[in-house]
Amino acid sequence: MAQRLESLYRPTHDEAARHGFVGALKRHVNGPMEHTLSAHYDALLASGGGVEQSGVRLQDERLFRLWASVLYTSQDLMWESLGETVDRLNPLYVERWRDLAGRREKLGSLQLDPSLTIPEPIASCEMHRQPGGYCHAADQDNLTAPLAYFSAADLYLSAKGFGLGQAAGTPAMCHLILAAARRKRPGLAPTCVLDMGCGPGTETIGYRMAFPNAEMHGVDLAAPFLKFAHLWAEHQGQAIHYRHANAADTRYPAGKFDLIVSHILFHETSGEMLPQILREAHRLLAPGGVLLNADVPYQTLTQSVPKRITNAWQVDHNGEPFWIGFADTDVRQALIEAGFEPEEVFAEYVPLGSGRYFIFGAAKKDG
Ligand SMILES: C[S@@+](CC[C@H](N)C(=O)[O-])C[C@H]1O[C@@H](n2cnc3c(N)ncnc32)[C@H](O)[C@@H]1O
Repeated sequence: MAQRLESLYRPTHDEAARHGFVGALKRHVNGPMEHTLSAHYDALLASGGGVEQSGVRLQDERLFRLWASVLYTSQDLMWESLGETVDRLNPLYVERWRDLAGRREKLGSLQLDPSLTIPEPIASCEMHRQPGGYCHAADQDNLTAPLAYFSAADLYLSAKGFGLGQAAGTPAMCHLILAAARRKRPGLAPTCVLDMGCGPGTETIGYRMAFPNAEMHGVDLAAPFLKFAHLWAEHQGQAIHYRHANAADTRYPAGKFDLIVSHILFHETSGEMLPQILREAHRLLAPGGVLLNADVPYQTLTQSVPKRITNAWQVDHNGEPFWIGFADTDVRQALIEAGFEPEEVFAEYVPLGSGRYFIFGAAKKDG
């Protein structure tokens, strides 16, 4: 019997040791180092009649430069150490992808569109400085882009202590959305579900498992991610239909879906694209259907000044071009402008580990 894909993703002993080191370094820089920076800022405020008045900028402090330097280096180390694993595994995954592409019998499907216009930033930006970006080698049989993304997600989750003892790629974030869906619509039993910006499809599978009788679809702009997603789903025996499309213009018929979800899509979406995606989601939802999105909890007004400063640094130096744009967006208003009724719109924080996550969305009025 062919080796299952999830067990194929197994870093060697030395690779795992390096990933573990980078994960611990990231946990340190994002946790204790950032807290120390915050406390330093408060001390500056207390001692100088206010940072603004004294003309002191946190960015000029040696502690800030140390934080920025460690964070930048940890990102470099992450891609470098994951790159070893990705380059070793890519030929194995490509072999399986070619085998699948030649097969007639499949549970789900994949529609690729070589003529699709890929908008920025996805077309060429190296999001979170992932080497080559999401569309790297999109015209070839090459799965390094999704493998790099997949392994980075695994490294982050492991460093935070999530999914311990579970295989890499086990659905995680979908459980936040599923819990919110149950709160908004007790007894929700969708017949057709769409995951927008599904990426490598690891979360998409979570919905298929939660609603085994529903038709499951995923769209994404990055062709390599969709190939990986299709391969991953078929190997796990899950019938999922993937389409290469812009979430702002999916070409599905109006009213097709009764649950539409997304995970960490919108903080990588431009201010022009965000309202277009919400309008498309409104068009695609059947009356009574629900749209639920999970994303970063960095809405500006809820953030301390040091956090705003470190977030701004991430935008300038760490490949997060829309982090602040998304954080400044009034998503409630955007949902209303997309056609949802004000009383059906919501935006809230839910606990996640020692932190929290941002869930926003709306139900489409019934009838
Ligand atoms: C941060 S990744 C999240 C992937 C996946 N949802 C997950 O949680 O692992 C964002 C994904 O959204 C896709 N994306 C960004 N803008 C999009 C758009 N306008 N339409 C479809 N997909 C988009 C990217 O290609 C990428 O795969």
